[in-house]
Amino acid sequence: MRVGYVQTSPIFGDKETNFKNVKQLIGVQTADLIVLPELFATGYTFTTKEEAINLSEGNNDETSKFLHDLSKKTGAVIVGGFIEKEGNQIFNSAMVVSPDGFQGTYRKLHLYYKEKLWFSSGSRQLKIFEINDMNIGVMICFDWLFPEVARSLALKGADIIAHPANLVMPYCQDAMITRCLENRVYTVTANRIGEEKRGIDHFKFTGKSQITSFNGIVLSSAPADEIFIEFIDIDISQARNKNLNELNNLFEDRRPHFYIK
Ligand code: ACM
Repeated sequence: MRVGYVQTSPIFGDKETNFKNVKQLIGVQTADLIVLPELFATGYTFTTKEEAINLSEGNNDETSKFLHDLSKKTGAVIVGGFIEKEGNQIFNSAMVVSPDGFQGTYRKLHLYYKEKLWFSSGSRQLKIFEINDMNIGVMICFDWLFPEVARSLALKGADIIAHPANLVMPYCQDAMITRCLENRVYTVTANRIGEEKRGIDHFKFTGKSQITSFNGIVLSSAPADEIFIEFIDIDISQARNKNLNELNNLFEDRRPHFYIK
């Protein structure tokens, strides 16, 4: 199974250029799964809720159309971040699209800093996207700091977690090694690079997108400050075996009765 990520430097508010850059970077690559950064087409640093609303979309609009075209061209399931609009709410979401079309969205559960001013936090149960023999879980950026997310996705059957990100703290890439080890899942973290200085906020995004194996090995690590793309082959069946040895099974050995809810 061939999985990859695209690490970009989105231009704030310029969806057309951001689409074009992703398309150009992927070129003629084909894959089973491609992960794009959080909010890959809009940028991240809003100064008002209005700005975010103006860049928001439904599930059949320009980002969905772009991702569907990309999915058909590459043969891959694509997971990429966008601002999802429903009624008078907007969400920091990731869209999952296959060559057959729109498959659904994940709405970020844990909003970081001023995201709380712009977005509603997700209020749906975590789910697994079962597509083309992959069981794909999705989480977005800051969700990494809440180990319950990756754990819940793994317990629900995820083999691989697609993780669009706009990371600003330096800890996630190391933490993903633990997330993978403790759940025996693969993860693909697609981060962005560059800086956004808007209003009084100035973010520097950390790059270093990463594919991490079920056994904690880092299979791919992007540079901190360059646009980058990488695809690698993984054996997804390894993530379906939770045995550590003949006496320990990662999930069967859990003692949930003694854990706090
Ligand atoms: C983040 O969750 N984008 C920091």
